Amino acid sequence: MQDKMQKIISLCKRRGFIFPSSEIYGGFAAIYDYGPYGVELANAIKSAWWKAMVQERADIVGLDSAIFMHPKIWEASGHVAGFADPLVECKDCHTRSRVDHLLEDIGVQSDEKMSQKQINQIFIENKKKIKCPACGQQNFSIVKKFNLLVKANLGNFTDDWIQDPVYLRGETCQGIYVNYRNVLQTARIKIPFGIAQTGKAFRNEITARQFIFRTREFEQMEMQYFTHPKEELKEYEKLRQARWQYYLDLGIKEKNLKWHKHENLVFYAKEAYDIEYNFPFGFKELEGIHARGDYDLKQHSKFSGQDLSYQDQKTQEKYIPHIIESSVGVGRIFLAVLCDAYQEEDLAEGLPADKQSSRVVLKLPKNLAPIKVAVFPLLRNKPKLVKKAQEIYDNLKSQYMCELDDNGNIGKRYRRQDEIGTPYCVTVDFNTFDDQTVTIRDRDTMKQERIKIKSIEEYLEKKLN
Ligand code: GAP
Repeated sequence: MQDKMQKIISLCKRRGFIFPSSEIYGGFAAIYDYGPYGVELANAIKSAWWKAMVQERADIVGLDSAIFMHPKIWEASGHVAGFADPLVECKDCHTRSRVDHLLEDIGVQSDEKMSQKQINQIFIENKKKIKCPACGQQNFSIVKKFNLLVKANLGNFTDDWIQDPVYLRGETCQGIYVNYRNVLQTARIKIPFGIAQTGKAFRNEITARQFIFRTREFEQMEMQYFTHPKEELKEYEKLRQARWQYYLDLGIKEKNLKWHKHENLVFYAKEAYDIEYNFPFGFKELEGIHARGDYDLKQHSKFSGQDLSYQDQKTQEKYIPHIIESSVGVGRIFLAVLCDAYQEEDLAEGLPADKQSSRVVLKLPKNLAPIKVAVFPLLRNKPKLVKKAQEIYDNLKSQYMCELDDNGNIGKRYRRQDEIGTPYCVTVDFNTFDDQTVTIRDRDTMKQERIKIKSIEEYLEKKLN
């Protein structure tokens, strides 16, 4: 299965989905750039999320808060004191590793929410079986906690009222909590309601592993739902079901999803589940869905000195809303979607119009495909064919992300479009000029149909929308 991961990483680089950051300078660990097809896929994932989370929900509104926030926010949230991973250093080669990852490598599960004491104990019990991943030695330091917040240098340096370091946000939801009152006062909503936002988050992850699964800069999509304390768990169940259904609607295979219930809850949490995806390196967290009680608003009330309670207009009851959240990384859905869609197919003899014996194809859900339609002239050096293909492309480009390709032979062009997951390829050939028709090839079946040029739009409309 790791082999599949290597193939996906290589396809991402080869076809322009994901590039290692700062590559010409030797790279920059755990940071990645999204290439021409990657940005299209990531944007499609974000708009599918926004549609399901905001557009189709009368009770949820959007927000885009800034990356920089008042440093006190990170104290109030508990990140300054407690947002840390357990780390050990190899005393021989000085490589730092996450203790939970070292344990996982020898088949011992730990839980992110365990105390330092608990995880230290498990590490000591298993120490004899653990080797440094870099040098293979077994000479480790004691377990330390390493804070994940990324410090920044920002501000008016003549001001001395900000003495704490400024951070790049470690999660987007804090921007939601601190805007809760603004949103409540301006949007036409009442409890229960949600606030959703997407945006960059930054974490000093100790180890860079598993491609875009865990990166130091990543994009989150988070929705915080504000409930009456007595309704929290009922709303939580609804949210869990909605999020599961969301992945099915997105086209993810149900057999590749499973629930993981957190056994060691943080003190304020009522319930916590992750939806896990069956990545080539095993079932791992895709999204977290947590019932957080009144912790967040209480903390921000305390640290800001502001009353963040809610007053029910009908009953006059006043209370601090309880929050349930849905939180997922764009990169994680991106990787799950690629893993789900990646297929290698042996082609039966005589079948392919494009003379391939095997192919790699991304069977992406059509709404997520970076390019919806590719238009080709059958032969590249025939100006008449190229001109007609250009005309068809110009006609379609305002409606769909299209590509006009007249490079290489037709077989190579089909292979390239299969690898980037393009659902339809339209080819102009010599018959086009006799009967005003083109061929249109379906990515999944590889079958070609001849249709009239004037029917292309109607055909695509039916198939793509
Ligand atoms: N507000 C809650 C929160 O941030 P989290 O479990 O730390 O909770 C939520 O993160 C989601 O964000 C994860 O389920 C994952 O999809 C994504 N995520 C977290 N850390 C990440 C990283 N270093 N790289 C990529 N995605 C990450």
